[in-house]
Amino acid sequence: MEKSDIGLIGLAVMGENLALNIESKGYRVSLYNRLHPHTPQAVDRFLASVGEGKKFRPTYSLDQLVESLKRPRKILLMIQAGEPVDEMITALLPLLAQGDIIIDGGNSDYRDTRRRQKALSEKGIYLVGCGISGGEEGALHGPSIMPGGDETVSVEVLPLLQAIAAHLDDGTPCCSWIGPDGSGHLVKTVHNGIEYGDMQLIAESYSLLKIKLKNNHDEMARTFEAWNRGVLESYLIGITAPILRYREEDGGYLIDRIADRSRQKGTGKWCIEAALDSATPLGVTTQAVFARFLSAREQERTRAHRLYPDADPAPILALGVDDLHHALYASKIMAYAQGFDLLYQMSCLYDWHLNLSTLATIWRKGCIIQSRFLREIATVYRQTGHYEPLLFNPYFREKISLCLPSWRRVVSAALSAGIALPATTAALTAFDSWRCAKSPANLIQAQRDYFGAHLYERTDAPEGVLFHTDWSRREPADDSRPSSSIDSPHKD
Ligand code: 6PG
Repeated sequence: MEKSDIGLIGLAVMGENLALNIESKGYRVSLYNRLHPHTPQAVDRFLASVGEGKKFRPTYSLDQLVESLKRPRKILLMIQAGEPVDEMITALLPLLAQGDIIIDGGNSDYRDTRRRQKALSEKGIYLVGCGISGGEEGALHGPSIMPGGDETVSVEVLPLLQAIAAHLDDGTPCCSWIGPDGSGHLVKTVHNGIEYGDMQLIAESYSLLKIKLKNNHDEMARTFEAWNRGVLESYLIGITAPILRYREEDGGYLIDRIADRSRQKGTGKWCIEAALDSATPLGVTTQAVFARFLSAREQERTRAHRLYPDADPAPILALGVDDLHHALYASKIMAYAQGFDLLYQMSCLYDWHLNLSTLATIWRKGCIIQSRFLREIATVYRQTGHYEPLLFNPYFREKISLCLPSWRRVVSAALSAGIALPATTAALTAFDSWRCAKSPANLIQAQRDYFGAHLYERTDAPEGVLFHTDWSRREPADDSRPSSSIDSPHKD
């Protein structure tokens, strides 16, 4: 029997849809799903339903799967991230030969991917850490794909991955080789951190439209539809209108019946960990993750609400829908500026040479954060020969300047009304901190030196020259006490 081009392990919805997508591009696909006692064999179920009559080859053991593949074998794992990936690699390893390629298409932690790549490369096996975004629909019709690892295998896997990816109108595939080792999964992690920020910012706009502007469902939906025709055009804004309009059979709005306890699978947290590892401020994503944590503590929030029912009953500033639009847009720009800065810092940390323009381009379609806005970011980074924070660019500088008065009005109004806008506020605070030429960190340095002799640098001495002061000798008993010059450069 003719050997298959690729094997796919894991027939949950993402795996099924990717299998259908790959097959539809003319590839022969072998399928395997772990046998679960008491449940029907997933491969048979798939082949008897959506997979019927297509070029799939069912396999019922890893030996059969591996045996059915052309060399070098390519095996795409669409299984739960974490231990299952380690277990599957361990099970596959004795069956594989030098040069074979495992593609991990799940949301794996890039640090796990690096560890696995190192272990596998010692045996001559390649592991491609492959971020895939787009949900079920994307998997079927064209996701955004972020493969990374040893570039020698890119010729083996890129043609297939680019064939199944989303394509821009000019034909550019939303899939490109990201870089070495765990870069593909790190880039997907940052994508998800940005996704968390986008979702939280949109939720905060919804909160203001509902609570402050007292809009009904239809009005809110119309606002999001209008926003989706302008600079905010994106997949996430686009799905918000139908979500707000959706009614159950009895006529009630589903959104009002969905519990306000948000869950998460971990990529947002890893994104913040990457920010911590690379000393990169990432306030918007961090607040978005924390907001999800807090949302899950419903009982505590309910009790706190009873204890503090009204933060400030005073009348608050008037806001219009345009103010909310501008605040959302400016916050989004800030969130992406932080996200792309994190990509750059991580790229420096690991020497990955990530191409930020390419990343923005492959996120323009197929993925959850796809938007019109990413086209502007791709253009900025294509035109700028070297890395600069996004807000240095004249295009975004102009946008921020236009939005700034509304941005401040929205945050001020919400703060005085006691409406929590953690991500919008974090974005504005991040912006003000970033553009602050004189920060109050001089006092922090003084305090560190005061209590722990941690040394400080001076404005009147070159950077890197460290000083220590014996602060106790400076505390005047009274104003008449003479002061002596006791600052001295620190000598190691
Ligand atoms: C994507 C998504 C996807 C992610 C879900 C849920 O790009 O297709 O990021 O990979 O798993 O969005 O993530 P949380 O459960 O953490 O919200």
